[in-house]
Parts: sequence; structure tokens; C-alpha cells
Amino acid sequence: MKEEFQPLFQPLTLANGQTIPNRFVLAPMTHTISNEDGTASEREIAFVDSRTKGIGLGITAASYTNVEGKAFPGEPSISKAQDLEGLRRVAETIKANGAKAVVQIHHGGVKALPHLVPDGDVKGPSEVETYGFGQSEPHRARAMTTDEIRQAIEDFGHATSLAIQAGFDGVEIHGANHYLIHQFFSPYYNRREDMWGEPMRFPMAVVDEVVRVANEEGQEDFIIGYRFSPEEAESPGITMSRTKCLVDALIEKPLDYLHVSLSSIQSVTREGEYEGEKRISLLLDWIDNRMPLIGVGSIFNAQDLLAAQETGVPMIALGRSMLLDPAFVEKIESGREADIIDYFDPEREDQHHLPEEIWQAFNSGQYPSPKKQ
Ligand SMILES: Cc1cc2nc3c(=O)[nH]c(=O)nc-3n(C[C@H](O)[C@H](O)[C@H](O)COP(=O)(O)O)c2cc1C
Repeated sequence: MKEEFQPLFQPLTLANGQTIPNRFVLAPMTHTISNEDGTASEREIAFVDSRTKGIGLGITAASYTNVEGKAFPGEPSISKAQDLEGLRRVAETIKANGAKAVVQIHHGGVKALPHLVPDGDVKGPSEVETYGFGQSEPHRARAMTTDEIRQAIEDFGHATSLAIQAGFDGVEIHGANHYLIHQFFSPYYNRREDMWGEPMRFPMAVVDEVVRVANEEGQEDFIIGYRFSPEEAESPGITMSRTKCLVDALIEKPLDYLHVSLSSIQSVTREGEYEGEKRISLLLDWIDNRMPLIGVGSIFNAQDLLAAQETGVPMIALGRSMLLDPAFVEKIESGREADIIDYFDPEREDQHHLPEEIWQAFNSGQYPSPKKQ
């Protein structure tokens, strides 16, 4: 291995005492290949196995805590007892590759898909017309009642209990990418005038419930992470200043890591007080080593990895690069970084060893990536 990559192969011990064997994280990635009822499919197990080689912390695809929040076809479920058998296999598969296994717990909120949820009843913080995954036409979503909000919080706790029973090392609370928790935090999606209109209330209630369940079940070393999107394009939207408040509040919680969702780790603030400043640097500054941060975004080869490392972020998640080349980490570790496949090649006969659905999504440009010239 090249000397400069050695720090990435150092273990990291989290606040709860769990040690992550290295600094590489598999970014959560929706694969759309679970069974229709949300239980794990054979193809899904094979996919998870192939994408967690060499990884220190493997995060699963967003998995719904209640079918009312199902936002993708073939989305995994972590909402019912029947899910346990498959969830156990997913956790075992990740752990057998030497990684800690974390399941991303998710509710789509207004982004749930009408044809996937009971009675087409899509709901979130406030009424809105919006687009979901793969939709060319928008759908309408209604505002949740306070009882439904409380139920959604409990569902995150229930999912945590299922994750523990299934043998996962932890959960990641999906507070990013325009889904339910993000929606409550966003001034665009949350127009409520009751107590739930306060942007921090719902995200914090979810964190407290997940922590409560983990403690109640005697799982003091259970990993609890939180993923967030630091800015959004909507207006009025989440700004870096608003995110600073979120980070300040999350730091006070007994969480083990924060995970920022970015399409490029080198991206800069879009507008406002911090315009033009690198988001990852701002976050690291605010967090000030009080909690590990996972950075992510457009790390396709050794050069990108070095630049990511130079930001000072303690853990680095890989998404598309692990799809294009599942041996990414192993190649870095064995000094074969020049062999990393860092672009999408629609003519590859092996189709990058991707499930057909993901291959098609890359081919149609749904996940923009460097392409073969
Ligand atoms: C196919 C695909 C599926 C994704 N699904 C999820 C998901 O389920 N949950 C999530 O938080 N982010 C999801 N993302 C975002 C990634 O976790 C990651 O933040 C993003 O792809 C940027 O990292 P990358 O440049 O390494 O791909 C997905 C991205 C891709 C490409």
C-alpha cells in the first residue's frame, strides 16, 4: 500500500466502545431489489456481499420503518417480524466481510410513492405537490396528524429493536436527501403551525426514541449514527447556518457518528453566510473532534481519495465507486490503485457486476458518473 493511505487503514473506536477496523464506509445505497414485501432477496444478499469487501463500516440501503413511508420499488423493510430472517442474513453477510453492520432506517414522508403505500395515502409534515423516485409526474401529499407523527417516531424505535434482534451493530437514522426527517427540518417542507413546526423537534424526537430503545434493550455499545443533508436547493430551504444548529444539537446526543450527505466531498456552500466555503471543512470545524464525521461524494480513484483525506475527515464513505469497482478498497490496500475502475463503461461485458436494475439506472444516466471517453 502507498504510505499516504496508511491512516485510512487505522481502526477507529467510537464513543460506545465499538471499534471500526478501518476508515472506509460503504455509503447507504438503494438497490431496488428486495422482495416485494420488503424481505431480503437472494440477489440482495449477493449484492451486499460484493459491495462490502475491505470496508470498515457497511451501511445498508434506506430501509422503511413503516410501509406508509416506502419510497422505492424493492426497498428493504425493517418494520415487521417477518423481516427478521432476511435482516439477519444481511447483517451476517456484512459482518462476515469484517465490517460493522449498520442498517439505515428510513421513512419517505411526502416522497413515498403512491403506488407502494396503502391506499396511495402519502403524507409528511405539510401538504405539498412533489416528485418521488423515478416519477415523471408529481403526486400530492397531505399533512400528517399529530398521532401519525407520534407513530412515525415510534416506528423508528421499533425498527431499532428489530435491528438489534437481527444482529446489526447499529442503525443510521436517515435524516438526509429530502425524506421524512429532512422534511421536518426543512422550511420548504415543514410549514406546520403546531409544535411540530419547530424544525428541530421531530429529528430530536427520533434520535431520543432510537437511543431509548437501544438502552432499554441493554445495548449500550449499539452504534447510532445520523445522516443529514447540509443544504437544499428549495427556497426557503435548509442552509448551512440552519445545519450548524442541527449539528450543535446532535453533538449533545449520545450518538456515535454524524454522516453528511454530499454529492462531492469537495463541494462548497451554495448561498448565505458561508457562501463559497467548503461544506466539509465548515462541519469539521463546528464538530471540533467531538464526534466522528463521515464524509462522502465523488471519490472515484486514488487521487480523489487523497484529496478527501486531506480535508481531515475521519471516515470516508464510498458510494458509486464501490458500484463501479467493488474491489476499490482492496486495490488501495494492496497498492493496485492504478487498476481501480473509476468510470462507468456501458460496454463492459460484466456490467460492473451490478444487478440489472442498477446497471440500467447507470445506463440511463440516473446516477451521473464519470464515463468511458
Ligand atoms: C444507487 C444509489 C443509491 C443511493 N441510495 C441511498 C440511500 O438509500 N440512502 C442514502 O442516504 N443515500 C443514498 N444514496 C446517496 C449515497 O449514499 C451517496 O451519498 C452519494 O452517492 C454520493 O457518494 P458517491 O459519490 O460516493 O456515490 C444513493 C446513491 C446511489 C448512487
